[in-house]
Amino acid sequence: MSDTQKTATLTIDDKSFELPIHSPTAGPDVLDIRKLYGQAGVFTYDPGFTSTASCESTITYIDGEEGILLHRGYPIDQLAGKSHYLEVCFLLLYGYLPTATELENFETTITRHTMVHEQMINFFRGFRRDAHPMAIIVGVIGAMSAFYHDSTDINDPRQREVASHRLIAKMPTIAAMAYKYTVGQPFVYPRNDLDYASNFLRMCFAVPAEEYEVNPILARAMDRIFTLHADHEQNASTSTVRLASSSGANPFACIAAGIACLWGPAHGGANQACLEMLKEIGTPDRIPEFIARAKDKEDPFRLMGFGHRVYKNHDPRATVMKQSADEVLDLLGVEDNPLLQVAKELERVALSDPYFADKKLFPNVDFYSGIILEAMGFPTSMFTPIFALSRTVGWISQWKEQLSDPAHKIGRPRQLYLGETERDYSDIENR
Ligand code: CMC
Repeated sequence: MSDTQKTATLTIDDKSFELPIHSPTAGPDVLDIRKLYGQAGVFTYDPGFTSTASCESTITYIDGEEGILLHRGYPIDQLAGKSHYLEVCFLLLYGYLPTATELENFETTITRHTMVHEQMINFFRGFRRDAHPMAIIVGVIGAMSAFYHDSTDINDPRQREVASHRLIAKMPTIAAMAYKYTVGQPFVYPRNDLDYASNFLRMCFAVPAEEYEVNPILARAMDRIFTLHADHEQNASTSTVRLASSSGANPFACIAAGIACLWGPAHGGANQACLEMLKEIGTPDRIPEFIARAKDKEDPFRLMGFGHRVYKNHDPRATVMKQSADEVLDLLGVEDNPLLQVAKELERVALSDPYFADKKLFPNVDFYSGIILEAMGFPTSMFTPIFALSRTVGWISQWKEQLSDPAHKIGRPRQLYLGETERDYSDIENR
């Protein structure tokens, strides 16, 4: 915690209270209200945490007004352009860019952990074939705590390390298995001679009947999608992981909680919802109808892939994703893809509409990712699993950071109670 010189004075009736203000290395000052209830007997009220910092962190910084995203200080566009996913994983986990030897060792460790316990296959067989892959992944990741007992002791730093490596390594295998299961194809084992992204593509798309050649440009695009989703500070799923972890739950249970939260359409589920929306729109001439619906307060419809709690200028991930979409579609010879035409026109129309400009609603990372993933051959149901596998390192890094903070406590918000006050129970015959 930074030393604090500044304070704020809160006056309630005729009493004043001094509250410390902490200055971060970047971003707005933070008012420390931890002793407020003890001193003044009041709670603060902030549903949706729009003004609340829930923890200290040194991992990721976002300036939503300027559209800046930094991991350990490095801008996301530099990482997406010059680095690759496993190096970004190392950076997020350990706080610095690895040397060549450190990176090689880390990549070897992750590669050697990609297989899952053979008996876990039985779990998959328990699901219906038409299950959503996210439903399978939530269950299977949670069930890892039933297999990997030697990495569930959160008080042992070595076990925490092994759990981190296992989760980052096994997520692609489990996500690919969930996909293979739902399409009725045999599982494809990971291969140690392939890089992380190529391995995932192969585990998803190879079939025993023929050789599968990984296209290096598609592998690079896949890797970039992983990198762009790697972490995003205290978003809903990360906060869920931290809250689950605050009770001392094991790492596999915590990450399963994060995956469950990510699934919602306001968060990671938006990539699937966005592509389905673009398909429903179908042709550019129907865009005005959907824009009108998004603006109608009586209609729950929202433009999926638009808006963000923090970004109020642009989402820097979306900028890189849009370039990547152009490259991938060009490579695949589908640059006149009708969905891309609808997406581009929808973006143009929305950005020139005062409703979206006034509310500072811009395309977010999910707006273009689905177009790339679909062009690569993924069904929409795999979009959110790909987000989940990419974000696993972010969840894990935040989880490790929380556990190594000696001041961490169980997360336990209070409430503004508006229900009945105490009253006597009435027997059923008197109601
Ligand atoms: N379409 C139409 N109107 C919108 C949209 C949208 N996509 N997003 C926000 N608004 C309006 C909203 O109706 C509200 O209007 P008013 O002030 O008149 O009531 C105003 O903008 C502010 O919206 P909010 O819901 O209070 O904002 P929030 O910060 O709580 O929600 C959000 C952020 C991302 C959940 C929301 O913008 C949304 O639902 N977007 C669509 C889903 C989506 O694309 N989610 C992916 C987020 S990025 C990936 C990730 O990291 O999860």
